Amino acid sequence: MSTDKSSLQNIIKEAVSNVLQTSEKNDVQRGKTSSLVSSLVAKTKNAIREAVIVMPRPFVMKSEVQSPTTKENHEKLYKSYVDSFNKISSKLDTVARSDADNSNDSDFRRLKIDEVHNMNGVKLHELYFTNTGDLNSEIRADAVPFMRLGRDWGTFDRWQLDYRACGMAAREGWAVCYYDPYKQQYFNTFFEGHTLHLPLMCIPVIITDVWHHAWFYDFPGDKMEYLNKSMREINWNVVEMRMLIAEMAKLQQLYAIQPVIGSEKERVITLGSGPPVEVMGDKGQ
Ligand SMILES: [Fe+2]
Repeated sequence: MSTDKSSLQNIIKEAVSNVLQTSEKNDVQRGKTSSLVSSLVAKTKNAIREAVIVMPRPFVMKSEVQSPTTKENHEKLYKSYVDSFNKISSKLDTVARSDADNSNDSDFRRLKIDEVHNMNGVKLHELYFTNTGDLNSEIRADAVPFMRLGRDWGTFDRWQLDYRACGMAAREGWAVCYYDPYKQQYFNTFFEGHTLHLPLMCIPVIITDVWHHAWFYDFPGDKMEYLNKSMREINWNVVEMRMLIAEMAKLQQLYAIQPVIGSEKERVITLGSGPPVEVMGDKGQ
């Protein structure tokens, strides 16, 4: 970490120097710029000295689908993910990177795996707590979720069938409806655990916990009943906000970036009906 910190500070200092040189003829501007970047350096210096810390957030679970015992179990697990993530983050600050040379036995590797497991455990529970437990749940025909899900599945009911199937198919994990910026469509899937089968850049808009702790105590052996009842408590206002934010982010632009190709021999591959993909000639092989 200390190496990263010093190199980052050097980069910022170099950027400061460049900025000051280009504005050398303007003392007033130079003063402002120097002050601004000095402030940035100070903030960065403090920020990177700390491990990443996540604070547990308060949630009120109004759901009538789950018993108080199940809600307590969710809460305990959520807090344990927060605590574990913070501990791991702290350990990652000091663990030797040279340890990663042996991918068969590496503390660094174990910590990186557990970091994602616990971070996703926090994020998924927060998304789930927020989009569930609406005792007045209803979806209007002109609501964004109804229109988008109907558009991408043919009908809203077909989306529901698919989403429930994802919940049933997961062993221990999550049913997820997500926005894919690549296709600019909504898809259903399930995550096994917190990290398996997680599509690249998926933006979750509906999450249902289908770990055993979420349903087995209240619906022993009947996950379908749990899913049916859970879907009647989805907070569609939250889902609509997520959809609008996901679409407004225009993350599909990440795929539209093309490399600048200089004097190298260019090779252009056209795949299907999509945009041409340019790759470097000799360098790209
Ligand atoms: Fe849970």
